[in-house]
Amino acid sequence: TVGKSLLVCPPHPAGALELCPAVLFFSRPRCSGIPYVPQPRDKSVSARSVISFYNQSAIDIAAEKPSVRLTPTTILYAGKSPDNSHILRSAQYLYKELPVRVAHRIRDFRHLPFIVGCNPTILHVHELYIRSFHLLSEFPPVEDFESEEKYTKLVKDLLDDHKDVVTLLAEGFRESRKHIKEYKVIQEFLDRMLTSRLGIRMLAQHHIALHQEKSLFHAQPNYVGIICTQMSLKKIIEKWADFSRQVCEYKYGFAPRVRVLGHVGVVFPYIPLPLDYILPELLKNAMRATCEQHSDNPVNMPDVTVTIANNDVDFIIRISDKGGGMPREILEKVMQYHFTTCGSEMDPASENLDGLGTMMSAMNDGPNGAGPMYGKRQQPKARNPVSEDLVEYVGRSGSNGFGFGLPTSRAYAEYLGGSLTYNTMQGIGTDVYLRLRHIDGNYESFRI
Ligand code: ADP
Ligand code: COI
Repeated sequence: TVGKSLLVCPPHPAGALELCPAVLFFSRPRCSGIPYVPQPRDKSVSARSVISFYNQSAIDIAAEKPSVRLTPTTILYAGKSPDNSHILRSAQYLYKELPVRVAHRIRDFRHLPFIVGCNPTILHVHELYIRSFHLLSEFPPVEDFESEEKYTKLVKDLLDDHKDVVTLLAEGFRESRKHIKEYKVIQEFLDRMLTSRLGIRMLAQHHIALHQEKSLFHAQPNYVGIICTQMSLKKIIEKWADFSRQVCEYKYGFAPRVRVLGHVGVVFPYIPLPLDYILPELLKNAMRATCEQHSDNPVNMPDVTVTIANNDVDFIIRISDKGGGMPREILEKVMQYHFTTCGSEMDPASENLDGLGTMMSAMNDGPNGAGPMYGKRQQPKARNPVSEDLVEYVGRSGSNGFGFGLPTSRAYAEYLGGSLTYNTMQGIGTDVYLRLRHIDGNYESFRI
């Protein structure tokens, strides 16, 4: 159907996709496994968003503006005022900033190779951004607490509407990448898209958290918005190690223990949100490799060791496993979007050929699900239920065995002024190093 629509779609240098509502109409993702993302709450909005594919000038103007990127210190010390005027200022900053950042994303969709931009799933995400742009930019100015309340509700709704964006992009590019010769095109788009989205979501969630802190009931000790003023790295690593172990046990019937060593007592201000994405991805990989390498003797499985090293400028988390390392022939590829050995011919044990053979599919199947078990087809000894909010959080991050874990984590680390590297010893195991900059202002950090 999409192909037919394209025949009547006039080529247009500035973005043919937006000019062809027929393509959009016929292109709703219908493939199995793709959650159908938000029906607009208001039908008139839907009609308008299609009409507005013809009217791009507002988007063009906003896309020309530079984004105003703030350092975490600026956010942290913006100060809480007793009259809550800081919340109003925060909303006013978002009010100006979000349409610009969303317009930048739309501009990137327009610049995708035509054949990729026509993919129904990619088109659907593109449309989501156009819709959000109009909702955000047509909202009346935030001038008082009443309008701030309504604006915050809109931002919350949009975060929810966009929750599946990473999974949808992973799916859309997986379908269409065969048409692109240059991998770099995909990599640059996804790096920019995912890191900019991380920034948008951090800003939006920071404001929502400030808004909620108004009531004592929601105020979290040691938090200013999304910044934890006394973050314990050890605690956050342990939280995600427990989580990953639960998922791993559910999937394989066993899981390696995790030891945390090094500067375990360090506490400093940081934003846990990106760590909540990166850590489970890396721990999941280490556990999967360990389980598969030692499946014939799970009782004596080697631990996964996490070492923390802290200094004035940055902190380093090393995740070491004895999962057999990575074969030489995949070394060049493991940091590429969509590269995965889950469900591939490199993985004869897998019975899940659609690439969903990671731990996430265990979670998505649900604790009582009858979905395929990944790995050596072990019957799980324990089917521990995994806490729902964690499942939802990681599920939202797009970790679905698409081979997005490492490249996305690396892009996030670099966006945060750090790096993600690894050393692997074939036949023994892998060390992954996550290095991130402090945010407390002694040295230049990053801008959100
Ligand atoms: P996914 O987990 O969806 O496969 P990732 O990007 O996280 O995606 O990892 C890509 C691939 O890199 C994995 O499928 C696996 O082959 C390899 N890999 C990642 N981490 C490890 C590790 N610790 N040990 C061995 N192989 C690994
Ligand atoms: C996203 O999460 O993809 C966003 O860009 C959210 C934004 C529209 C509020």
